[in-house]
Order: sequence, then C-alpha cells, then structure tokens
Amino acid sequence: MGECKSPTVIPQQMQCFTKRSATWWDKNSATGVLHKYGEVMFDQMKKVLQEKWFISDASVALKNFKLLDAGCGGGILSEQFARTGCTVVGIDVNESLINVAKQHQALDSSLVNLSYSWETIEDHAARNPGKYDVVVLNFVLSHARHRETLVRSCIQALRPGGIFFVTAANKTIAGWLRIVLLEQIIHGILPKNSHSWKLLYSLSKLRRVLAQNACVVKEYRGLMFCRDTSLLKWVDDTAGFYFVYAIKE
Ligand SMILES: C[S@@+](CC[C@H](N)C(=O)[O-])C[C@H]1O[C@@H](n2cnc3c(N)ncnc32)[C@H](O)[C@@H]1O
Repeated sequence: MGECKSPTVIPQQMQCFTKRSATWWDKNSATGVLHKYGEVMFDQMKKVLQEKWFISDASVALKNFKLLDAGCGGGILSEQFARTGCTVVGIDVNESLINVAKQHQALDSSLVNLSYSWETIEDHAARNPGKYDVVVLNFVLSHARHRETLVRSCIQALRPGGIFFVTAANKTIAGWLRIVLLEQIIHGILPKNSHSWKLLYSLSKLRRVLAQNACVVKEYRGLMFCRDTSLLKWVDDTAGFYFVYAIKE
C-alpha cells in the first residue's frame, strides 16, 4: 500500500491516514469526527445545489450532474452524494483509503454511479479539464502541501458555471486555539497530530486564490463544535473550520 508521488503529499499525514484506514467507517473511532463534520457539510452542500439549480427532489434531479470528490479518503461524502443520484468520482492519493472506499461501496449494490481512482488531484484535473459540474474539496487543504496548486487543479476540473465547495481549518490565532489546542490537544475530539499551525489554511488566502482563478465566492461561514451538546453549529465566525461555496465564471 502506498501513496502517489507528488509535492502536494505530506508523508507523515499519509501514515496517519493509513493507520486509521481500517476503522475509517467506524463512527466510534478517531475518524468519527470526520463523519460528524461530513454530515453537516453534506447537508449544506446539498442545500446549495438544490437552491442553485431549483431542485425540489434531490434524488431525482441531481442525477444529471457529475461531481468530483477531490481527496475523498474512504468515501464518506462520495457515497452520500452518489445516493442523491449524481455521477460521482472519488480520487485520493492514499491507496489504503481508496481500497477502503471501494470495499465499502461494494456493500451497497445501488452505488453504480460511483467510481474511485487512486491518483492526485493535480493529475486527475490535468486529464479532465472542465469535466465536472461540482467539485468538493472537503478537509483536504489542512493535510497537504502546495495548497494553491490543489485549489487551482480543482477549478481546472470544473466547468464554467460549476460549483466549488471547499472546507478547511482557518489559519488564525483563534482558529489554532480552537482547533489545535482545544479540540485536538485538550479535548481529543480531533485525532492526535491531525492539525498544526503550519497546515492551517487561511480563508483570506483561499478567497484570493479563488478570485485570481475566476471563481466568485457566493457564501462562506464557520462551523463550531459545542462540547455541551456534542453538536456542530453554523456560526458567522470563520476563525475555526470554514465552508466556502464559489462559482466558476
Ligand atoms: C481528512 S481526509 C478527508 C477525506 C474526505 N474528503 C472526507 O471528508 O471524508 C484528507 C484526505 O486528503 C487526501 N489528500 C491529501 N493530499 C491529496 C492530493 N494531493 N490529492 C488527492 N488527495 C489528497 C488524503 O489522502 C486524505 O484522504
């Protein structure tokens, strides 16, 4: 098992993901938090797609769309989107995770509109320019290098008028305190060593890269974990995890 060779890949991060691959779909494991955040992000992305394309019944109308889940991991979001009816391609640099994703897909014979590929976002985008109606980059930027390249590659794979969803951990002092110190080190909500100051990615930088690459930001908001209720809630404050939705011109 390995990972693709690419300057965007961080070997230590890959080792952590590979270690967690066997329990990726276990909501009680260290990956449980990814399921939790993923559910909220998925609902929000689906809502945007329904509103944008005036769809009242997602399961019927989304089937005409092609969606790329860039850095899909074990396929948590890929499967959810495939169930809405759209054609989903999930790609990831980590071979163990792509295998986990394929094994999990095999458990549900209805997922015929979903395929996975072990490759980098950069390679996939270079071979598939303008192919997708929707590109999702969910919690990838805080685990990779050369993030601008990744964002640009995702935009390259998107057709004009297509929708780009990005989520990441913001690079602010408040974000570091909340995500790294509180959620990761003190409360252990996030897996050990999963986030660091160096890997946080600032929302202002992302917005600049999007603007430079003909993407208009339509909405951005923050997501916060409430320890009292163990629930996630949307907030205006984007100092921690954030969600962005943009349209390619
Ligand atoms: C925290 S996981 C998120 C997985 C998935 N997006 C989700 O929300 O469940 C980050 C993923 O990004 C992948 N990744 C990092 N750099 C990548 C690259 N250059 N190309 C493709 N995948 C990459 C990792 O292998 C890992 O699976």
